[in-house]
Amino acid sequence: MKITVNQEKKLFKLDTPKTSLVLGLADGKYLGQLYYGRRVRSMNFADLWHTEEYPGTPESAAREEGKFEDVFAYEYPASNNGNFNETCLSVSRPAIHENGHGTSEILVKPTFDSFEILNGKPDLEGLPHTFGDESSVQSLKIVLRDVNEKIRVELLYSAFADTDVITKSVKIVNEGEGVIYLNKALSACMTLNANPEERFEVLTLHGAWARERHMERVELGFGAFSRESYRGVSGHQENPFMALLSRGTTCDSGEVYAMHFVYSGNFLAKAIKNQFSQVRMVMGIHPEHFRWKLSSGESFQTPEVVMTYSASGLSEMTRSLHTLYRNHLIRGFYKDRRRPILINNWEATYFDFDSEKLQAIAEEAAKSGIEMLVMDDGWFGHRNGDDSSLGDWYVNEAKLTGGLKPLVDAVNKAGLKFGIWFEPENISPDSDVYRAHPDWVYQYPESTPVMVRHEYTADFCNPEVTEYVYSRLKAVLESANVEYVKWDMNRPITEGHSLFLPPDRQGEVLHRHILAVYAMQERLLKDFPQLLLENCTAGGGRFDPGMLYYSPQFWCSDDTDAVERLAIQEGTQLLYPLSTIGAHVSDVPNHTVGRVTPFATRGLVAMGGTFGYELDITKISDEDRAQIPVQVKLMKEFSELIRTGEYYRLASYRENNVYDSYMVVSNEKNHAVVFVVQVLSQPNEKSHILKLKGLKEEATYEVREVSVANGSKRLWGTYSGDVLMYAGLIVAREMADFTGLCLELTEIL
Ligand code: DGJ
Repeated sequence: MKITVNQEKKLFKLDTPKTSLVLGLADGKYLGQLYYGRRVRSMNFADLWHTEEYPGTPESAAREEGKFEDVFAYEYPASNNGNFNETCLSVSRPAIHENGHGTSEILVKPTFDSFEILNGKPDLEGLPHTFGDESSVQSLKIVLRDVNEKIRVELLYSAFADTDVITKSVKIVNEGEGVIYLNKALSACMTLNANPEERFEVLTLHGAWARERHMERVELGFGAFSRESYRGVSGHQENPFMALLSRGTTCDSGEVYAMHFVYSGNFLAKAIKNQFSQVRMVMGIHPEHFRWKLSSGESFQTPEVVMTYSASGLSEMTRSLHTLYRNHLIRGFYKDRRRPILINNWEATYFDFDSEKLQAIAEEAAKSGIEMLVMDDGWFGHRNGDDSSLGDWYVNEAKLTGGLKPLVDAVNKAGLKFGIWFEPENISPDSDVYRAHPDWVYQYPESTPVMVRHEYTADFCNPEVTEYVYSRLKAVLESANVEYVKWDMNRPITEGHSLFLPPDRQGEVLHRHILAVYAMQERLLKDFPQLLLENCTAGGGRFDPGMLYYSPQFWCSDDTDAVERLAIQEGTQLLYPLSTIGAHVSDVPNHTVGRVTPFATRGLVAMGGTFGYELDITKISDEDRAQIPVQVKLMKEFSELIRTGEYYRLASYRENNVYDSYMVVSNEKNHAVVFVVQVLSQPNEKSHILKLKGLKEEATYEVREVSVANGSKRLWGTYSGDVLMYAGLIVAREMADFTGLCLELTEIL
């Protein structure tokens, strides 16, 4: 990576291994984007402003100021006076109106003030952020100022050495005397000066509970296309991601410009194609329900946006993001460690369990090499369903005889680690804590909060609430040898209103909530440095890069069906490393869709994630149980490869309606594993040809078929990398539904 500055022409060039971003100053004051794309050698860009001709900067062609505003590729467009494309910043001041007090939007036009190059990357206090040392990342801070309104805007860019990513974030400082309110403070803007004949598609991930992160592509027409969340969480429905693709982009060809938000709350991702066919993409905290008060001298830091460009299709975008998240976002004890293979009792018992039952599951699991038991929901208060006790974080001794410690000790004695479930952000109306403190949940005065899953959301803007919740979490974790926490959040936030905050701070509630979640998770990791934290939001409703800063893995979806998981995991793998994707083998008929699939196929699908079990191991059939030690052993063998290797998509069931396939190749390209699932058997179909990817052309590989049912490894043949990639392997069509195939490739030297 390299950041170069041309002082004379006022140009800035940020390079990653294969991309460049070039920014410049028109008339020495307006900061704009000149170029983003394939890496270029020179900075000879200033002439491309076209400012001498139409439309001209306001200074060079005063008559055309409005046109300048309308087409200039502003890096951080503010106040919409002539800038009819999307803006990033809107500010108001307190004002006295005829009918009383209010606020008035003010005109903010920040222009260039100064810049600074920083080796490494500064922390974004209180927010999750990517990181790196001086050898792996360089940063550029550009300061813009509105001298009239005394508002400073600091744009922070960081370019990485080992991946084609540039991050952007913004700090807004009130340098004036009075109060200002930020009505909108987005994090990033990108403008492509496209020609009318260039067409773009927009790729996003949409979903619902149990159907998270399905990929969708639509053509971007004139006007705007957005993905957004106002739910207080990033959401099952939308992921904070958007990519512009040149028309017809595939996994391996086409241009991709992507943005991904390192944030877990409300967001806006928007692409706009304007009258001149320019395309602008912006991303940031959603301005709806947002208004942040800044007194004199105070500042607001926006979360960061990850930006990547690929000239060779979607797979390269995926690998750039995976590298970034693995090396520069995930932290802590488990960053570079194999995660324990766990068994979770949710689908096994739901709320109906006691110490004896859990101990029996642990003892049986130990025989198969499973490494951790996770006690899910239902161990506290008087909770025997989802309608009570959230907030009463005290062990229910009617279920756990003698408390938590005897159970944890017994599980440890059986050879397993112990993990526990919490839902810290919510409170049940039927709880002692709610009866004592009805004001501790978000609500509008004199109105009852909206109930979702029999829950209200705890007012995390109130430090008394967060102190109480944290002290209970800590006490439980200190009471026994608990080595894992599943942090759940089962509802959206319906009331962005806190009884604790004054009226002029109500627009801060939803962002403050997320900051408080981050602060509590940070505290948890400081107090328990070896804790494995797995975030979860009724499945994968807050699976975003922000959460990965705290938890190296995230429960991907409550839908554990092997077929449904194909599209869910494909969309998730598109952005997130496989080692972050919580995936378990569950029992059949599947609890969400009722489908019956073979145990081996369920194992194969779960191997594309963290891998674990979610079933009553004491009750499943002997044949299924016999496969568990085989799967566990294989996963232990493959987990390093799956955690650190490069991911290549080979076929998508979502697209072909027949089968799904991807592979993971080690960084040295000497070891790979290929997964194939044939969903439905079809009549009169020929076999599939599987063209592998990411191998060394000249290397020779042994290809073995690995049985996920009995562990055997049968040699298929020995082939060169080029034959495997360009001619491919024949995968015979199976005369059955839901079959799986696993191939292991090992280079022969
Ligand atoms: C939703 C989660 O996704 C499930 O795995 C489980 O933990 C339940 N909540 C418990 O209420």
